[in-house]
Amino acid sequence: ASVLVLQGPNLNLLGLREPAVYGATTLQQIHDQLHQVAGQLHIQLETFQSNSEGALVDRIHAAKQNNVQFILINPGAYTHTSVAIRDALAGVAIPFIEVHLSNIYQRESFRHHSFLSDIAVGVICGLGAQGYELALQAAHQRLTQ
Ligand code: DQA
Repeated sequence: ASVLVLQGPNLNLLGLREPAVYGATTLQQIHDQLHQVAGQLHIQLETFQSNSEGALVDRIHAAKQNNVQFILINPGAYTHTSVAIRDALAGVAIPFIEVHLSNIYQRESFRHHSFLSDIAVGVICGLGAQGYELALQAAHQRLTQ
């Protein structure tokens, strides 16, 4: 099984960035942990972070070429703005789970709308770094059942 983890803008700052909201874990630590779980589940895992909307769209297109079977995506602030990322995910038709570290519904109202949620397999928010691991387990179950 092949799974791609996509991380949007500012997630490279995890650990430093608003730790009260996003936790103290760095993106590197999250990805190390995911690689460990992926190894146990025999999943081929790739991770990609970008601060640029176009680079994320390009990576989604490349995922189709590379036969990626499932995407886990934290689109960061693009969650609330990006029709382009939504259209890319719909265009490649690769199933995906949307992940947010924070509970976006406890926060400002502009974070309550996502352009992706209605076309996602599922959404996990508010569980911090654990959300990615739970999403990976859910992806694994879907790919092997
Ligand atoms: C986020 C929530 C977004 O509203 C915010 O812009 C982020 C991170 C989260 O993981 O909680 O950058 O996606």
